[in-house]
Amino acid sequence: MSVNVGDLDAIAAEIRQRISVAADQLALEQLRIEALGKKGRLTAALRSVGALPPEQRAAAGARANALKTEVETLLTERARQLQTARLETLGDREWVDVSVVPGAVRRGHLHPLTLVLREVKAIFSRLGYEVALGPQLEDEFHNFEALNIPAEHPARDTMDSFYVEGQRWLLRTHTSPVQIRYMQSHKPPIRIIAPGAVYRRDATDPSHGSQFYQFEGLVVDHDIRLSDLKGTIEYFARSLFGADRRIRIAGDHFPFTEPSIGAAVSCGLCGGKGCRSCKAGWLEILGAGMVHPQVLRNGGIDPAHYSGFAFGAGLDRLAMLRYNVSDLRLFLENDVRFLRQF
Ligand code: PHE
Repeated sequence: MSVNVGDLDAIAAEIRQRISVAADQLALEQLRIEALGKKGRLTAALRSVGALPPEQRAAAGARANALKTEVETLLTERARQLQTARLETLGDREWVDVSVVPGAVRRGHLHPLTLVLREVKAIFSRLGYEVALGPQLEDEFHNFEALNIPAEHPARDTMDSFYVEGQRWLLRTHTSPVQIRYMQSHKPPIRIIAPGAVYRRDATDPSHGSQFYQFEGLVVDHDIRLSDLKGTIEYFARSLFGADRRIRIAGDHFPFTEPSIGAAVSCGLCGGKGCRSCKAGWLEILGAGMVHPQVLRNGGIDPAHYSGFAFGAGLDRLAMLRYNVSDLRLFLENDVRFLRQF
């Protein structure tokens, strides 16, 4: 395309006029592109100057450049005018009624399992415990072997597992592997709780699910005794369920504790007399015991100098007791009609 100076003037006149009446910033931007963009009309005119005969080139080039500068200036000025006009009338067109009272916002809240876990953490932190975490995908060594549960041990049947990639990795069946991991990476004194999800291939019913929550406790120091464990369980149960609760300790068996005990708390509904929601007045809350010397060794701790206790409790079960929930599955179904009650 070749352009002579007369064409240039015509284009400039038209653009000047349209800028002066452009209604908003968007219209201005479109004009800018039409005139000065890569394929703009003035841009094309400027480019074609090079094709003019040499004697016209200088004059045409100067004229085109001057027009370009003029259009740029006009665009800027019109933009400023529009902006000023907008600000002057803003109060009439765009306003906010700051006196409006907004409708109530319905706030969410914490899940009952989270609430109970927070209580558990608060209780044990008063006793100086720290919170430790371990992986949910475990190896057989930490989940079983290091806890005195060799391959053919019957305890593996009661903790039927989900394996991942052959026999090497599994979803942990309890939080006890955190005992080993923590001992391997820390020196006594040790005082931790280790909460988290655990997995078992259990058929689902009101008190069993394939995923549930536990928290592990582990204390290792000089001269830790069974009486320390008993006092700890008592303090914990009364803090969570109320000072009037009684504790019953009975013998039990776990491969990784010796001796092993089971702890039950007196039923809050019948006061220990026995009713429909308890077994003869007692509710099992946790398994525990003195850490087996071999387990201490597996954790890199010398049982000649140290002793310890461990306990493991089901968080879902505690939450069921705490809030009188009759079906474990309610915790995982995320039905707001259930969750809103807490
Ligand atoms: N890990 C055991 C279970 O899941 C509970 C437990 C933990 C027992 C610590 C004793 C000591 O059944």
